[in-house]
Amino acid sequence: MDSYEGVDKLRLGEVPDPRPGAGEVLLQIRFAALNPADAFLAQAMYPANPPLPHILGRDGVGEVLEVGSGVEHVRVGQMVGILRCKAGVETWGTLAEKTVVLAASTAPVPDGWSLEEMAGAPLVFLTAWQALTQWSDPPAPPREGSVLLVTGASGGVGAASVLLGKSMGLRVVALSRSAEKGATLKALGADFVFDPNDAKLRKNISAAIAPGKVDIVVDNVGGPLFNQVVALLGYGGRISVVGRSGGPVPEFNTASLFFRRNRIGGVAVADYTPESAGVTWQEIVDRLNAIGKRPVVDSIFAFEDVKAAFARLAQGPMGKVLVR
Ligand SMILES: NC(=O)c1ccc[n+]([C@@H]2O[C@H](COP(=O)([O-])OP(=O)(O)OC[C@H]3O[C@@H](n4cnc5c(N)ncnc54)[C@H](OP(=O)(O)O)[C@@H]3O)[C@@H](O)[C@H]2O)c1
Repeated sequence: MDSYEGVDKLRLGEVPDPRPGAGEVLLQIRFAALNPADAFLAQAMYPANPPLPHILGRDGVGEVLEVGSGVEHVRVGQMVGILRCKAGVETWGTLAEKTVVLAASTAPVPDGWSLEEMAGAPLVFLTAWQALTQWSDPPAPPREGSVLLVTGASGGVGAASVLLGKSMGLRVVALSRSAEKGATLKALGADFVFDPNDAKLRKNISAAIAPGKVDIVVDNVGGPLFNQVVALLGYGGRISVVGRSGGPVPEFNTASLFFRRNRIGGVAVADYTPESAGVTWQEIVDRLNAIGKRPVVDSIFAFEDVKAAFARLAQGPMGKVLVR
């Protein structure tokens, strides 16, 4: 990335091979995965502004080629994924043949998982985990049987929220603008799927979950949908704000929060430390294994076709978009 003019200006180039410092490992990347934040960063619409040239890519899976001094738990030849860290944000990322990351921010590919399944999972599952558990102190899953509403449910964070929600015994209502993706979300375990553009959205969701109400929301979309989401909350219902793919919320009325004591709170995946990400990641893997589900891969693009991969992401994928 030579400029902050967006992912359309990305260029395939040659740089010297990076070398791992103390506590770091060098990976031969097999698959990288894209996140909307990569595209935001490339347009200077993200808190981090790394010096140029920069290499994007926060997620990926690869073989350990070399370990730096002091690295004990990661060995050469091992296949590992990357837990959300500085890679692709402050340091050069995974859209490269070779990347250096902190050894503490790697995790082995879980038994039986494909490299593709691992490549795009950590960032979105860690995000979904925080969104689902942040309303207790210490963080904990919502009460079993609670109703979870997921907006933008087909996306990376959305699909992760559906799967983790089912692993927690929640009743899951998923929103997707696409009937085809809606069918996939049902297969992933969503109890109900609705189109956010349904003119009777509130009425139809209320009828589906009656006599329950929405207890917790993972909101990836924001925009005009947000006020409808607030209106669906039951007493004490909470909204974890993850993203705003639908743009700003028009005419938000704070009074909509008073009477049912509703709460809205932001989610920041950057808050994980390598240690907390490692512990949480293991819990996520255990839960997915317990329900017999795996991360969802939407599509895989060739390295040279990274711009087409970003275009697919912008369209709205069903799971993660990968680059080989
Ligand atoms: N706070 C954090 O720490 C954190 C971490 C990760 C991601 N995020 C943010 O969370 C959001 C979701 O991330 P993601 O990785 O899941 O993204 P994604 O894979 O691109 O999925 C977003 C989904 O939202 C829906 N959507 C997209 N544009 C929309 C629009 N204009 N109106 C309504 N729905 C729309 C689409 O679903 P349908 O086509 O099925 O409707 C799409 O699949 C992004 O804004 C991302 O930047 C934040």
